[in-house]
Order: sequence, then C-alpha cells, then structure tokens
Amino acid sequence: MSNYFDMHCHLLYGVDDGPKELEASLQLLRQEYDDGVRTVYLTPHFRKNMFECSAEVIREHFEILQARAKQELPELRLRLGCEIHVSMDVAEEIKSGRCATLGGTEFVLLEFSETAEKKYILDRCHAVMNRGFAPIIAHAERCAAIRKDMELLRRLVDMGIYIQMSAGSIIGEDGFFWKRFCKKAMQQDLVHFIGSDAHDLTDRKVNIGKCAAYIEKIMGADYRDQIMCVNPTEIVERSIANRYE
Ligand SMILES: [Fe+2]
Repeated sequence: MSNYFDMHCHLLYGVDDGPKELEASLQLLRQEYDDGVRTVYLTPHFRKNMFECSAEVIREHFEILQARAKQELPELRLRLGCEIHVSMDVAEEIKSGRCATLGGTEFVLLEFSETAEKKYILDRCHAVMNRGFAPIIAHAERCAAIRKDMELLRRLVDMGIYIQMSAGSIIGEDGFFWKRFCKKAMQQDLVHFIGSDAHDLTDRKVNIGKCAAYIEKIMGADYRDQIMCVNPTEIVERSIANRYE
C-alpha cells in the first residue's frame, strides 16, 4: 500500500515557522507525494505569544495552496488543522474556534511541552474531552513524562486519547532513546497515527517514506498500513465524511 496519511506537518506557507513561500510548500508536497502520501493534514502551530496567525490568513493560504496542488498533484488530498500548544485554557480556546480542529472534526492535535507533568497532561486532556473534543497527542514520544512511563501512555490510550508519533523519531533521527520508545509503543499497540512534523526539505524533513519502510521491517506491512492509512481513514476521515460528504 502506498496511500499514506501525514497527520501533522508545517507545510503551509507563511503562517508559522514552516516555508515562507508558496513554491516551497509545493516542493514539500511533491516530497510527500513521492514518499507515498496521498492525504496531508496541514497543522500550523497555535501558541499564545509565539504563533497566533489569524484564521483568515491560514484559510486564504490553504485555499491558494490547495488550488495549485490540485493542478500539479491531483491525487493528493489536503486537509486543514492546527497543532495546538496546550495551555491552562486550551479547552476554551478550542471551543471559541480560535484554533482549528482537524478537518473541522472533533479531533484536535495537542502539543504538550517536553516537560509537561503527568497530572497536567491528564487534566488538560480531560478538560478538552469534557468540551466534546477528541485529543490526539502530537509527537507523544517528546514528552518526558510519557516517554519514561509506558503505563501513562497506556492510560491515555485507555481513556480514548489518540497518539501520534513522528516519522523522524521512529527512524532514529532524534536519537536512540526516542527510537526505542517508539518501537516499544508500536509493539504494545499504543500508536494510532504517524506525522512528519516536517517544516522544510533539509532539517525537519518529511521522512514518511523512510518511516514506512522501517515500520514494515520491524512490525510488518499490515501494521504499517494500519497506522499510516487505516486508522486515519476510519477515525478522522470517517468523521469528516459524516459531517460534510
Ligand atoms: Fe509540529
């Protein structure tokens, strides 16, 4: 199968620390396509006092990029989302519509800081769920509290929270410890989605193709397809289909 989803990336131009120009966005989308990706969730940062691009500008750039991508890469589907940096009032911010959900669904991509503590992670996830949203924890392997405590990861999954891990971490670009943790989490079936978290072509790359090959090698093709295509389709895309199509 080569019909992968990238559930987390910063390839939308001019809205955060991703590419500045439209052409650079298109180049990165070509890379996604060459890596076997057919659906890209564009998830610009939302972080108070750091990344607060207006929803109008994000929507405008998204529509321009989508129109160009349609001409050049007609098989590539683009979705708009947001990587929401978690603060005390994250649930209210989501509810107010200041930060986008994934494709307009109930799913929200939440970024915790690397030093976030267990209680904070659990409390904020509860708050978001109590407002009717479904958290997906972005690059969960980056949170020290989760990385050092597989039981916490299991507890989050048991609560109905979804877990995204980054392609670069899985293949070892972020070091041995993150790679080992990702592998253990996959072996215990505690990963739902893969995202590139790509920002550019050189430092924070797409890596989806390499990641797919690596997951196939260590976990088999069925598991690779499960987290890189089936889960996104059955979880998030199904919700989009129910709402809009
Ligand atoms: Fe990100």
